[in-house]
Parts: sequence; structure tokens; C-alpha cells
Amino acid sequence: MNIKQRIDYLRKILHEHNHTYYVLDSPTISDFEFDKLMEELIVLEDSFPNYFDINSPTQRVGGGVLDSFKSVKHKYRMLSLGNTYSSSDLRDFDKRLNKLSDQYFEYVCELKYDGVSISLTYENGELIQALTRGDGEKGDDITDNVRTIKSIPLKLKGDFPDYFEIRGEIFLPLKGFELINKERVENGHEPYANPRNTASGSLKLLDPKEVAKRKLDCYLYYLLGDNLPTNSHYDNLQEARLWGFKIPKEIIKCQNIDQVLAYINNWDKKRHDLPFEIDGIVIKVNDLDLQSEMGFTAKSPRWAISYKFQSEQALTVLNKITYQVGRTGAVTPVANLEPIKLAGTIVKRASLHNADQIARLDVREGDKVFIEKGGEIIPKVLAVDFNSRDLFSHPTIYITHCPACSTALVRNKGDAKHYCPNSITCPPQIKGKFEHFISRKAMNIDSIGGETIDLLVKEGLIIDVSDLYTLTHQDLLSFKKNGEKWADNIIKGVKLSTSVPFERVLFALGIRYVGETVSKVLVQAFDTIEKLANAKFEELIAVEEIGEKIANSVLLYFSIKSNLQLIAQLKNFGLQFSSNRSLLISRKLFGVKIVVSGVFVKYSREELKGIIEDHGGKCVTSISKNITFVLSGKNMGPSKKKKAEELGIPFITEDQLLEKIN
Ligand code: IVH
Repeated sequence: MNIKQRIDYLRKILHEHNHTYYVLDSPTISDFEFDKLMEELIVLEDSFPNYFDINSPTQRVGGGVLDSFKSVKHKYRMLSLGNTYSSSDLRDFDKRLNKLSDQYFEYVCELKYDGVSISLTYENGELIQALTRGDGEKGDDITDNVRTIKSIPLKLKGDFPDYFEIRGEIFLPLKGFELINKERVENGHEPYANPRNTASGSLKLLDPKEVAKRKLDCYLYYLLGDNLPTNSHYDNLQEARLWGFKIPKEIIKCQNIDQVLAYINNWDKKRHDLPFEIDGIVIKVNDLDLQSEMGFTAKSPRWAISYKFQSEQALTVLNKITYQVGRTGAVTPVANLEPIKLAGTIVKRASLHNADQIARLDVREGDKVFIEKGGEIIPKVLAVDFNSRDLFSHPTIYITHCPACSTALVRNKGDAKHYCPNSITCPPQIKGKFEHFISRKAMNIDSIGGETIDLLVKEGLIIDVSDLYTLTHQDLLSFKKNGEKWADNIIKGVKLSTSVPFERVLFALGIRYVGETVSKVLVQAFDTIEKLANAKFEELIAVEEIGEKIANSVLLYFSIKSNLQLIAQLKNFGLQFSSNRSLLISRKLFGVKIVVSGVFVKYSREELKGIIEDHGGKCVTSISKNITFVLSGKNMGPSKKKKAEELGIPFITEDQLLEKIN
């Protein structure tokens, strides 16, 4: 290997390690090994300056100081989004778009990152420019600063277009924000107000070396260019992930506005557990042709809109911090407040989310706190009014044991919350499991209420959910005088629930991360509980929308003997553990993996993918040796074509595919 080859090799593997560390979050070498390779590259580049490359991994530490930023015209205008604040606003948006389009279309929902928008240009797989939004027409060239952000690839991999722009949001994760503020306070400076302004201020620094010290991160959410891989916004982003970009995992496709609203509600509740701040949800039309048909108004696209989470604030006294245990054992600290009116209701309690949040706010009993209410969720504590803090107050020490059953709490790596591991006898967990099981979207046993659950658990009549199915009139009548009707209803309701379909039974089991939607997805892929229980990790994550976190949780659930026993019992009582709907039109393409590329005559690309899946086939986006064939239309991407030819993968036409399935 000569010097140039060694330099190229080091650059390549250091780019690769940057990607595994900062984008995938799963480093494959130690920091020490990384530093050694980097040192070797620095020495070689210093000794052979003729091989200088501005996109070398060594350049991420930041180069020379600038006088000012150059103002550059955007190739495509950088617009903002229209805002909505309520579900009725969103339904109006949906109605508007449906009037514009005579065909059915999908939405894509994404989180709305609260940071600074950025437009990156790549030519031949190299970052050549990074512009801020500016006034939308012209932005500041902050390429030198952006190069220091480790999750932004300087060189791409895979099958990318020769020239394109990708837009996203640079933000400061909460941990990085705390670190900067801690340092500022230690050095006698005022802390910064919030992560967004700190990120924006950081990018305006004229010394890239200073920017490199801030732990900025970047999510990308919008591709622009003439040769994008597909016609679908969602699929394009999945492709861009393969090129090395950090594409948010939280992005989903929605078939209608109700699914959009469900996504919003879900994130409204969960947003405080994220390691960064979001201020809403962005909703986009998935189909790019339809996007261009719908077009833009003067300020924003017609095909996209943002939903802003609501907020209203007040100041009150925090009397006491207590801790709540949920059905999964998750512990949530709660601020018990001096009652105060906020957004039309009297607020007595607010969530403190988790231990990190308490530490971040440095919130203590007796403090005056700012609280905020957003949408339907319970309010949260925003900040402490330090000016009115009692001199003798004590820092809050987080609990180490379950407040309900005294078991030592655990906190797993990557989890924001502490958990009580005693799922068998911890009272709030038992009660929570019953309440979840009987809830409307699960087994829908509405003849039983919370009080009845309390009573039956207390009397030892029900210990696990299968006990509901052995309840008799006699059992129940001993608790209530003249309770015939009451007992009748309960028994009837329980019996009726045996016809609830498999996907809701699966949801009712309360497997962690297996909510309503995930249950449906799992049942589509595995139509019996046996298939699901025996599925391997690889089979689970092969299902679209199922990631590692869900897969591991499913595996864990079915590895526990008592869970299997519970399922066997429920099955005995006649609950549905298989889906009798025929989901596929045929299995003619079963086991077949297809890449669909190019433009077609009879059907659109998306329709063809649907057809393939209806017949049991699987559509994948990138060419590899595992592909069965390529369904190629007009203008198929040249690099994809070349790769498929090299690997000897057969090509078929639209007509040939239709013939295969009749
Ligand atoms: S799409 C033409 N997607 O919100 C549409 N923007 O209020 C371009 N933002 O300027 C924007 N998260 O800085 C889009 N997932 C997301 C976003 C997002 C945050 C920001 C972006 C934009 C602003 C609009």
C-alpha cells in the first residue's frame, strides 16, 4: 500500500466509524482505537499536504477563523410551513387537499425539531455547501461550521444521485445543552435560555473550532433534486439513510387524517421523554408528483403543514414530589402543586417526567415553579423561579425503591425512566394491567370499572387477567346486595370479549412498546400467536415499522414462562389468538425480494409495490445479492442498473410481473 492508498483507507474507515458512532449510535471500535487511526491520518496529511481534502475526517475539528459569512442564493427557495393548533384545523387542511386531488393519497408524519434549518448540497457524494435559511431566498454559507457536526456525512456511501440538496434541522440535544450551561455557571456566566437559541448562536460563531466543541446534531427530513430515487417522500428518506444521513426513526406513513391525529396525540404525551426538544408535528403528502401538483402559496407549500403543541403557563408552589407507578412498572415523578387555574382548568398536579428532568430543572419541594399545559396532556413543570427559592431548601434525591412495593428500582441503559421490576405483586402494576386489558381499544369489557377491579384484586378473586374468565355469579354476589344485574353484566361482558379480534387481544396483553398500531402490524405479519412467539429477531425486524426496540421487547415477553402460561390459559377460555382474515391475495411471490425502479406504464411505482406485497413478495430499496429480481421501468437509475448487472440479478418488466401473478 502506498501513502495515498493508506490515506484513502484511513479516511474511509474513519468516515465509517463516525457514521456508526454518531448516526447509528452503535460504535464498533473504542475511542482509543479511533484516536490512534485519526492521529496516523493527521501525521500523514501533515507530511503530504498535496493530498489535502476539505472533506477528510480530520477537518471536523474546524479550520481557520472567518471574518463573516458569505450570503448565497438558494437554488430552491427555503420556505416555512403553515401552522395549525387544533384537530379541527387539521381536518380543514385534509379537506382542502382532498379537494385539490381526485385520487387517494397518503400522509407522512414527522416530528418538528426545534432547531435551526439547514440546506446541504452534495455533489458526487461530497458535501459542497451548507446554507442557513436566511430570508428564504438567500442564506449564509456556514459550511465550515457544519463540517464539524459529526452526524452530518462529508462523504456518502451507496447509490446516491450525482447532485442533490437535503434539508434538515441542526439542534442541540438536551444533554449537550446542560453541559454548556453547567460550564457557563461554573465560570460565573448566565446560563443560556434554551437549546434552540444556543444551537443558533453556536452556528453563528466565526471560529469553527469553537463550534466543534458544541455537541450539535442534525436530523434530515427533505430531499430536493432532479434525480431522486423514488416518487415517495418516505421512501426517499429511507434511501438517504443508506447514504449515511441521520434520518429520524419516528417518521411514519398515515393512510388518513385520523391516523395523523393519533400520531400527534401519541407524541404530545411522549415528547418529553425525547433527548431533544420538539415543538410540534409536521404532516406532508407522501407522493412527490402530487406535491408538485398541489404546489406552493407565497410562503409555504400547500402539501405540508405543521401542528404546534399548545402551551399556556402559570407560576405556583410545588408542595410535594410523589412517585407514580404505571402498569409497565415505569415510575413517573409527580409535582403536587398549590392549585392554580391554567388554560381553563384547576391544576393540582404536573408531571416531572423522570430523574434527569428533576436534576435538569434542579426542582425542589417548596420551590415556586412555572408550569405549562399543552393540548390534552397533564401539565409539566417548565422551570424553577430561583429568585424566590428558600435559602434552606434541599436538593431532591430521587427514590431508589418502589413507593408501592419497596422493590429496588432499576434503570436500563437507554431508558429515561426508572422501573419497578416486580411485575407480579406490585399493586399499581397489577391494577394497571387489568385496566389496560379491559379498556375500550383492548378487550372492551365496559361492564367492569376501576372500582370493581380494585375490589376484586383486594379480595384476591383476580390475580392475573385470565382470572376474569373464571368469575362466577356466586363469586360476585357475595360482594353486593341485590347485585344480580351487576354480576350478570360483568359475566356477559367478559364472555363477549372472547370474540375480540387477535390484534386487540395482542394489544391487551400489554407487551411493552406493542401499542395499538404495532399490534396490527405484527398480526399482519404473523397471523397466529405461535408464529409471533417463535419469531426470531431477524424475522421481527424484517417487518416494516418494527425496530430493534420493539423486537427485543417481543422476544423478552415470549421468553418468560408465566406469560406463555397466561396465553395458554386465555386460549383455553376461547380468546382469539389467530387472525382468520386472509391478508394476501395469493402467495405467488412468497419469499421473493424485488427492487422496483424506474417509471412504469400501467401502474405507478407505489401501486406495483402494493401488488407485489398483496401476493406475498417483499419490496426492498437497494440492490444486493439477496434480491430475486429487479422490476425495471423507464429511466431506471444508472448506478442501480450497473450494480444489478454486476451481481447478475435478472430484470423483469411490468408485464412480466403481471403475468407471474395473473
Ligand atoms: S419540512 C417546505 N419537516 O420547521 C417544507 N420542517 O416552520 C420544509 N422543521 O423551516 C420544511 N422539523 O426549520 C420540515 N420534520 C420537519 C421539520 C421541519 C422542523 C422546521 C424547519 C422549517 C420550519 C417550518
